[in-house]
Amino acid sequence: MGRVEGKVAIVTGGASGMGASHVKRLIAEGAKVVFTDVSLEKGKALQAELGDNALFIEHDVTEENRWKEVIGEAEKAFGYVSILVNNAGVNYSESIEVFPVEAYRRVVDINQMAVFLGMKAVVPSMKKAKSGSIINISSIGGLRGRKESIAYSASKFAVTGMTKVAALELGQYQIRANSIHPSLVNTEMFSEQSGGGTVAADRPLNRVLTKEEVSNLVLYLASDESSYTTGAECVIDGGLTAR
Ligand SMILES: NC(=O)c1ccc[n+]([C@@H]2O[C@H](COP(=O)([O-])OP(=O)(O)OC[C@H]3O[C@@H](n4cnc5c(N)ncnc54)[C@H](O)[C@@H]3O)[C@@H](O)[C@H]2O)c1
Repeated sequence: MGRVEGKVAIVTGGASGMGASHVKRLIAEGAKVVFTDVSLEKGKALQAELGDNALFIEHDVTEENRWKEVIGEAEKAFGYVSILVNNAGVNYSESIEVFPVEAYRRVVDINQMAVFLGMKAVVPSMKKAKSGSIINISSIGGLRGRKESIAYSASKFAVTGMTKVAALELGQYQIRANSIHPSLVNTEMFSEQSGGGTVAADRPLNRVLTKEEVSNLVLYLASDESSYTTGAECVIDGGLTAR
């Protein structure tokens, strides 16, 4: 019996990076997973690898109207949705003085607004499922500042707060909401941020986090093992922010 056996999940930005790792882990533990992404090519390739317990839907998370359709397609394919992983995210690095306003709006649209849209769209399905777990991927950048990350930090701090509001409002329906705060993970985003993937070994655990370790935390929050955890900031950073 898998740890999320029979549950239906949606993972945004699930075609590559950490999202793809979460999709694989949830399926391996018995869930049926709808994963969405703007990358049709990567989505189709992963769908072919995963088989019948996975369904890829092309979706830009900023498209409000499409959210309803995504939930509808998930229900039709697998049943009521009880896990939502708001994972899709982007970064844009620049100093405040020259940060393009359009880039700021785009980052906030994807990282923040879309988390609101996803939570809003999924609640009716989770109510019908009689319970739910919303997992919002923030960052340690949503807990403390970092230079040249004004939009990213604004959006990820917002996710930290929005998650707490969701926990307060939705607890009465046995719907939990938690945020995850990873330090740098070796994905495409990390390579871009670090200019080539050089490891910054200033963590007490003296190594970089892997996406599989983040998936372990996603799995825990998705499963009933975390049944009394809601409104939490789940930090996974090798002790970096303990300093
Ligand atoms: N990589 C890190 O170091 C790190 C650290 C902390 C938090 N995070 C967060 O983790 C999440 C995943 O990051 P990652 O490193 O796997 O990134 P990634 O760039 O490797 O993958 C992101 C995925 O999201 C998709 N995507 C981008 N814009 C989208 C949109 N508008 N609609 C739907 N899909 C979209 C991309 O196509 C891609 O498949 C993000 O929210 C990110 O902010 C990443």
